[in-house]
Amino acid sequence: MLEKLNQIQGAALEALDSVADEAALEAWRVTHLGRSSALMEVFSGLGGLSREQRPAVGQKANQVKNALEAALAERSGTLRAASLKRSLEGERLDVTLPGRRIPMGRLHPDSQTMRELYRIFGEMGFQIFRSHEVESDEYNYQLLNFPVGHPARDMQDTYFVEAEGRGDNPIVLRTHTSPGQIHAMRHFVAGNPENPPPVRIVLPGVCYRYEQITNRHETQFEQIEGLAVGPGITFGDLKGTLADFARRMFGQETRTRFRASYFPFTEPSAEFDVECFLCAGKGCTVCKGSGWLEIGGCGMVHPVVLQNGGYDPQRYTGFAFGLGPQRMTMLRHRIEDIRYFYQNDLRFLEQF
Ligand code: DAH
Repeated sequence: MLEKLNQIQGAALEALDSVADEAALEAWRVTHLGRSSALMEVFSGLGGLSREQRPAVGQKANQVKNALEAALAERSGTLRAASLKRSLEGERLDVTLPGRRIPMGRLHPDSQTMRELYRIFGEMGFQIFRSHEVESDEYNYQLLNFPVGHPARDMQDTYFVEAEGRGDNPIVLRTHTSPGQIHAMRHFVAGNPENPPPVRIVLPGVCYRYEQITNRHETQFEQIEGLAVGPGITFGDLKGTLADFARRMFGQETRTRFRASYFPFTEPSAEFDVECFLCAGKGCTVCKGSGWLEIGGCGMVHPVVLQNGGYDPQRYTGFAFGLGPQRMTMLRHRIEDIRYFYQNDLRFLEQF
């Protein structure tokens, strides 16, 4: 019997040598230490042995059981350590590798200029007022004192969105930000019809014209419109405001000039020029030798327009202006072609 127990132990330990993973180890445990193993049979047969044999066989069987259990525990430990090592190796990190650079975005030059304009006009007390890009003929033209058939409409080639069945009031893409003047005035009047508050707003946004595309003209472009309405506003206020704006935008020394012009919605009207900041007024290719750069149009709000906005022209006056932010960006950075603005070419965009 003792010999048999030695054999059981020898065979079990030999089998354990070829156990390579945890599943095989469990199978080994069932075979050699499980209920129907040869070793357990020895335990259950102890009762049938003689009194003399029983203690020695029992003791030996316990020793074999302890030896097998110890071998099992050791094997299990080695297997677990090996599998841990494998998984750590799979996740190995080289912490000395250099990091990957995160590409940094930046604002489009157009957005940079717009934000600067918002800041400057904000500091000067103007609120931003946003208006529609799709307008009716009434707002884009008629209420701004361009009656149907008025020749000044030819200054702006219009995209029509919907004309059929709308008679003299087709839907158009706004050709300028000026229709926002009417929306803004009506907005303020609606808040207090008897005693409408003074208006001081800038209206930024995209406009559309059906134009031949060239390096200077796009069919889609930005404008920023200004409007101030209140009792006793004069042309002097307009000049002071735009001169102050030019100094804040282009530098404290910047000189400005106003030239008589015509717009249906202002009277009198003017073109607004700033001294060429590229040659300091001496004359260069950008200002075509004149020393001046044209920045926008302006004037005193026409009484008809005030009336259409809901402000009594007997009690209120106002000034308005319309500037081209992209022209300012182009002049500043000497960008020679407006088409770069919307081409989304990184070689262009990364320069700003
Ligand atoms: N709306 C004009 C245009 O797009 C620009 C303009 C001129 C706006 C004079 C004004 C203004 O507010 O007073 O050509």
